[in-house]
Amino acid sequence: MHIRYYEVEDMEVLSKQEQELVALSRQMCDQAYAPYSAFYVGAAVLLENGEVVKGSNQENGAYPSGLCAERVAAFAASAMFPGMPMKVMAVSARSNRMKIDKPVSPCGACRQVLLEYELAQEAPMKILLTTEAGSITVIDQVRDLLPLAFSGNGLKNEPSGE
Ligand code: THU
Repeated sequence: MHIRYYEVEDMEVLSKQEQELVALSRQMCDQAYAPYSAFYVGAAVLLENGEVVKGSNQENGAYPSGLCAERVAAFAASAMFPGMPMKVMAVSARSNRMKIDKPVSPCGACRQVLLEYELAQEAPMKILLTTEAGSITVIDQVRDLLPLAFSGNGLKNEPSGE
């Protein structure tokens, strides 16, 4: 079982579109609503139709009611452009309490959600994780982030064909 990812030290290696996505995800940290954790996460996802949908983490005083930036962005993208493949998602984080010198990797629940969209679109969704120092961790497809994943296939309320 392998988890494949690689790091790029220089943003210039990425395509212009990807560099813009990274910049947007950084900006989105400033739009997070994270008064409880003071951990500000931004996400930006590029869709196949060229649209970019942005998200930031949204917290709530009833703690479990909040949502990570990645899911805010992915759910918004799917709500606004149903079925439109998500090609690349960039994720950045900023904190008042610590320096983010390691990339912030999507939590388990976000991996599960992103994977379902990736499987449905039958094309990879690339993930770009940034650090404050500037290096980018690249994961070519979500399935690399979630080996032995649960698949909701059998749950779909569709005729089995039998
Ligand atoms: N968070 C994200 O938005 N994305 C991640 O990948 C990790 C965690 C948020 C959730 C919560 O608002 C705060 O960061 C601290 O966990």
